Amino acid sequence: MPPCTAVDEISALPARHLQAGDRLAVADMFLRLSEESRRRRFLSAKPYLSERDLELLTDADHTTCEAVAALDADGRIIAVAQYAATATPGTAALAVAVVDEHQGRGIGRALVGAIMRCARANGYERLVVTTLAENVAARALFRAFGFRAVRVGDGLVELRLS
Ligand SMILES: CC(C)(COP(=O)(O)OP(=O)(O)OC[C@H]1O[C@@H](n2cnc3c(N)ncnc32)[C@H](O)[C@@H]1OP(=O)(O)O)[C@@H](O)C(=O)NCCC(=O)NCCS
Repeated sequence: MPPCTAVDEISALPARHLQAGDRLAVADMFLRLSEESRRRRFLSAKPYLSERDLELLTDADHTTCEAVAALDADGRIIAVAQYAATATPGTAALAVAVVDEHQGRGIGRALVGAIMRCARANGYERLVVTTLAENVAARALFRAFGFRAVRVGDGLVELRLS
């Protein structure tokens, strides 16, 4: 199935779907995230991306999982949002990360909007996000899209949009 076209809706922000050939570029972007942003994205210390992490991001089949990236003027990846189907039918888990120097400019919001449209276009009506309870920025970002906290424990919050 071809990628959904939702990324085209990000105005004034070069963005595209990730492909298998993007592995090195994604690994490079990961290294440009601060240690704290990596921890927030992966919910614990994360010194490097695993093969499975890279697979989910760059070998996306554009249906059960998908990833979109925002690019800077030089074409370098500065942010990634992704979804992956969960074991619950019709449900997908979202995640997002923006390189620190580009945070606070609306990029996270734009990419989350794009990946939500992709997930919905592929039939995922229920969306979930797991984040650190202390992650005020992520909680506010997803709250603005209508997500609500459904479970709190072990320092984590699950946000859900049905
Ligand atoms: C969370 C994250 C993705 C937000 O992306 P961003 O591009 O910086 O956010 P945006 O500029 O698009 O802001 C969108 C909204 O998010 C919220 N937000 C963003 N930064 C915030 C902050 N520092 N404090 C509180 N709210 C914040 C606000 O509601 C904001 O809307 P507003 O500007 O109208 O107030 C980014 O900070 C990040 O990559 N953090 C590290 C990884 C992470 O935490 N990922 C989430 C786990 S899934």
